[in-house]
Amino acid sequence: MSMALASLQESEGRVAGPAGLFVSFEGGEGSGKSTQIRLLADYLRSRGLEVVVTREPGGSPGAEAVRHVILSGAAEDFGVRMEAILFAAARNDHVEEVIRPALARGAAVLCDRFIDSSRVYQGVTGNLEPAFMAALEQAAIDGLMPDLTILLDLPAEIGLARAGRRRDESAEPDRFEREQVATHEKRREAYLEIAENEPQRCRVVDADRPEQPIALEIAALTNDVLADMARVVETSS
Ligand code: TYD
Repeated sequence: MSMALASLQESEGRVAGPAGLFVSFEGGEGSGKSTQIRLLADYLRSRGLEVVVTREPGGSPGAEAVRHVILSGAAEDFGVRMEAILFAAARNDHVEEVIRPALARGAAVLCDRFIDSSRVYQGVTGNLEPAFMAALEQAAIDGLMPDLTILLDLPAEIGLARAGRRRDESAEPDRFEREQVATHEKRREAYLEIAENEPQRCRVVDADRPEQPIALEIAALTNDVLADMARVVETSS
């Protein structure tokens, strides 16, 4: 652990909570979600919390089965509406089988993508109407929103180039990826709009920086939420 993380740890007393802590990570291709989830998990474990790292689509046996159907492209021919329903079905299983039980134990749940991915990918770039999306959301999560959503924000071009390097060491995005930049940029704008509309829950983190300062910022944001929760518990007891 870095010195700065260690001093953050010293400044905060709370190590676990009765209601658990639910953090979702969102962002486009190559935004570094999985690295940052790993670093936050290490940090929270070092503070004595039980940490559950999970992801969507998937995260429970039922949802992983649906993940396979969606990501293999098997559902693509049936349209974006069908895909949106499958994402919601997977999410409902994940919420009921994994997330709610973990939170009830007082664990910290770190989830790679959650409801905002559906809002952005199916709702905005899939052009699905808001009333349909709201109904799916109700069916999938029944009010279980994250305590904190970290939006790892960076320009689509940079994220796509990073994702391309990860795949085959070629520094430039391929033709297909270049064609997709406008779509990725639209998703970025949609994420930023969600963050603006829900400032209580969402924090925008500049992902175009080295891993360590990003991790430090995310640890500090998480500590703020934990401190707020501790205050709520104190005043209500
Ligand atoms: P994944 O391989 O997990 O990619 P990533 O590293 O980008 O998270 O693939 C998940 C894909 O599914 C990703 O392109 C985003 C998309 N997705 C949706 O379209 N809607 C959703 O609700 C979720 C959770 C993911």
